[in-house]
Formats: sequence, structure tokens, C-alpha cells
Amino acid sequence: MTTVIEQDSGLTLRHVSKRFNDDAAPPVLDRIDLSITSGEFVSIVGASGCGKSTLLRLVAGLDGNHEGEIEFDGKRIVTTDLSRGIVFQDHRLFPWLDVEQNVAVALRNAPLSKAAKARAVAEHIELVGLTGYERHYPHQLSGGMAQRVAIARGLVNRPRLLLLDEPFGALDALTRSRLQVELQRIWERERITMVLVTHDVEEAVLLSDRIVVMQARPGRIGEVIDVSLPRPRKVGHREVARLRDDIVDTFFTEAA
Ligand SMILES: Nc1ncnc2c1ncn2[C@@H]1O[C@H](COP(=O)(O)OP(=O)(O)O)[C@@H](O)[C@H]1O
Ligand SMILES: [Mg+2]
Repeated sequence: MTTVIEQDSGLTLRHVSKRFNDDAAPPVLDRIDLSITSGEFVSIVGASGCGKSTLLRLVAGLDGNHEGEIEFDGKRIVTTDLSRGIVFQDHRLFPWLDVEQNVAVALRNAPLSKAAKARAVAEHIELVGLTGYERHYPHQLSGGMAQRVAIARGLVNRPRLLLLDEPFGALDALTRSRLQVELQRIWERERITMVLVTHDVEEAVLLSDRIVVMQARPGRIGEVIDVSLPRPRKVGHREVARLRDDIVDTFFTEAA
């Protein structure tokens, strides 16, 4: 996408390495260099265990112990803050709170009046298509609806960056493809940066400006692929299928 890039805007990782306790093992992340422009949609794909979630947690500020630098909008990331939202594979909603309360939880530390908070909650419930379900509890929601609530909660602080760790990984194929379309719409409307971890290469092709392919042991960036297909992209489009097959053949088949 063509946006004017300010000097300090976006996400930059420089030589980011990460080890857990075992110094003898190869690092979980090994000298990751990556720059993501403000407003970009970037997916990270790679086999299980290659460090995708670890990378996302570092960017979220949920884990701070690493080598190298991670900067967001010109500032070093030290801890979680309201400029970055995150959505996980499991929705992590509080079972004793209803939809509205679950979204509102994220605004606890926001410097907003009560009325402004209520407005933000209502807007984001609408954004994910759940108006009318405010009083429903998580056990009364389908998996897809619960994940929509998690997305609303991730966005309600108006973060400049939304991190998504296999958000649709536990959903059935139909719900998954609906939510992919939704996420595309939300990204276009909110114009924020999104970083999506997925092991679904087709999902990455559908949604991304760029796809980062990671390799395991040590966790490294193998390739960064530009996706220049026009939007909206649809499952089943010939170009989408072709690029997916290319990526799978090149990086994810045993023979490769
Ligand atoms: N808290 C932790 N302590 C020790 N090892 C961990 C921890 N979190 C992840 N790992 C290890 O780091 C590697 C990468 O994990 P992860 O980032 O979850 O991979 P992915 O999300 O790509 O499947 C794995 O080998 C995993 O066992
Ligand atoms: Mg993971």
C-alpha cells in the first residue's frame, strides 16, 4: 500500500534473538530483522515451533527478555500498552462477564470518561457485527462470535497495531472464511497495522501485503514475499490459489 511514511512510524525489529533457559539449544529466535510500515498487513507463516508466538509476544510486550531492538513508532517496546492490541487463538473471554463487559475490560486503564468508554464499546461491538448480543455470555456464543468479541476487545483502545496469533485456527472452515472477510473489512476501515500469525498459507495470501516465511531451529526469517494481488481477494481466485501453491511447494513440502 502506498502511504507516506513518517520517519518513526511502524514496527522495526533489529537483530532480535531470543532464548529460553537452555543456552545449549539453538535460539528460539535468531537475529530477526523486520520492518513493518504503518498501515501494512503482514502475515507470519511457518511450521509449529518456529517461534511465531514468541515473536508476537515480544512485540506485544508480554515478554521483554531478548537481544536486539524492537521499536514501535520510534519507541522501544518495554511492556504492554494501549498502542498495541492482541488476539489469541482461544478467545480468552471472562465467562462471568457478558459481551459488553468483556469488551469494556480492555478500557480499564484508558483515559476516557464513562460515556466515552460506553460509546467506544458500542462502536466496536458494531464493528464486529455483534450489535444485539451485548447481554450474551461467552457460553451463549458460537466460536466465531466469541472470536469477534476478542477482536472487538483488541481494537477498542484504538491501537495502532493489532497482533493476531492464529485467531481463526480453532474455527470451522466456513466460519474461518467469513471472519477472514470481516478482518479484511476491518483493516481497510481502521487503517491500522496488522500482524497475523497463521499456519494457513491461503489465509496469509488473502489478507496480506507481505508474507514472512519463518524457519525453525533456529527460528529465522526464510523469505519475505510481496503479495500484489488486487483486493478484495477471494478463496478460489486463480491467482490466490496459484500463489498459495507456490509458497507451499517452495517452503512447506518435504522435498523442498
Ligand atoms: N515459555 C517458554 N519456555 C521455554 N520454551 C518455550 C517457551 N515458549 C516457547 N518455547 C519454545 O520456543 C519454541 C517456539 O515456540 P512458539 O513461539 O510457541 O512457536 P510457534 O508459535 O511458531 O509454534 C518452541 O520450541 C517452544 O517449545
Ligand atoms: Mg504459536
